[in-house]
Amino acid sequence: MTNLANSLLPTQVKIVEVGPRDGLQNEKVQISAEDKIALIDQLADAGVNYIESGSFVSPKWVPQMATSTDVFNGIKRNEGVTYAALTPNMKGFEAAMAVNANEVAIFGAASEAFSQKNINCSIEESLQRFEPIMQAAKAANIPVRGYVSCVVGCPYDGFIEPEQVAMVAEKLYNMGCYEISLGDTIGVGTPASVAKMIQAVNTHVPMNKLAVHFHDTYGQALTNIYTALQAGVMVVDSAIAGLGGCPYAKGASGNVATEDVLYLLNGLGIETGIDFDKLLAAGWFISDKLGKAPISKVSTAYRAK
Ligand code: HMG
Ligand code: MG
Repeated sequence: MTNLANSLLPTQVKIVEVGPRDGLQNEKVQISAEDKIALIDQLADAGVNYIESGSFVSPKWVPQMATSTDVFNGIKRNEGVTYAALTPNMKGFEAAMAVNANEVAIFGAASEAFSQKNINCSIEESLQRFEPIMQAAKAANIPVRGYVSCVVGCPYDGFIEPEQVAMVAEKLYNMGCYEISLGDTIGVGTPASVAKMIQAVNTHVPMNKLAVHFHDTYGQALTNIYTALQAGVMVVDSAIAGLGGCPYAKGASGNVATEDVLYLLNGLGIETGIDFDKLLAAGWFISDKLGKAPISKVSTAYRAK
């Protein structure tokens, strides 16, 4: 079915809410497990049906995620909502299974330097580390999502060739990831570079298996999302209140705000199933806990009304 506003756009988009993980992992203020649980429950009640709720990584590397077990054990578990966890290795996968995460995500990079800084190994080594996760997940019937970081640029290696992104995305897809999320970790992409990158990846991975994951460092995230939608992508990652950044990408700002993405999609007549007012309230809840305003123009505009 085509969209009324633009025949090139999808009628439905799945929003993957990454605020409780990607967002909070880089916030300086330590948020209690109780408040993370309240945030996740509010997001689920707002109709967000995919929530990356934590990660099982080294607490020395990412202290904010050290409470992920308590978080998963405390959330309400609305029916139809996927509560996912980020897992870099078997230790993380086992921890995620112990708390009944519905899905896990593995995360690689298109840049060698970022791979080393983020997960302490080369791209090739990371793929080898993911193999046992893929096997264990298959045996346990757990879907695995794959991330590729630095799909346009890397804070250490600079510009990344689209072909390099396509190569890593294809490997993750061939390993069995049901969806590949393309991460512009430092938010340097523009519609031209993003379109080129998606096109290159799409020669190896079907469009309906791709998601986009934009950080808004240079204010290009929404326009890049629009470009991705026009290319045929139907899954968009975003973080409530524009939380976060990346601990291994200096200067990177948070993910694009879910509130801003929803405003865009609503305006385009694209269905998401999310209640706008409840989403705004969730954004203010967590922002109050962090002692700052949401990094969302839409949220700011509605608060001023
Ligand atoms: P390592 O040092 O190479 O691993 O780290 P190791 O196996 O030698 O273990 C070292 C220590 O970590 C040991 O503890 C392990 O037990 C512990 P120690 O003996 O020193 O006390 N350890 C763990 N603890 C808890 N859970 C685990 C785990 N594994 C080992 N799963 C490792 C390798 C991957 C663990 C480390 O580099 C790490 O945790 N990195 C953090 C990566 C991370 O979370 N980055 C942020 C998320 S990625 C991202 O944000 C990008 C994304 O949003 C997309 C985008 O925007 O581009 C996805
Ligand atoms: Mg990210």
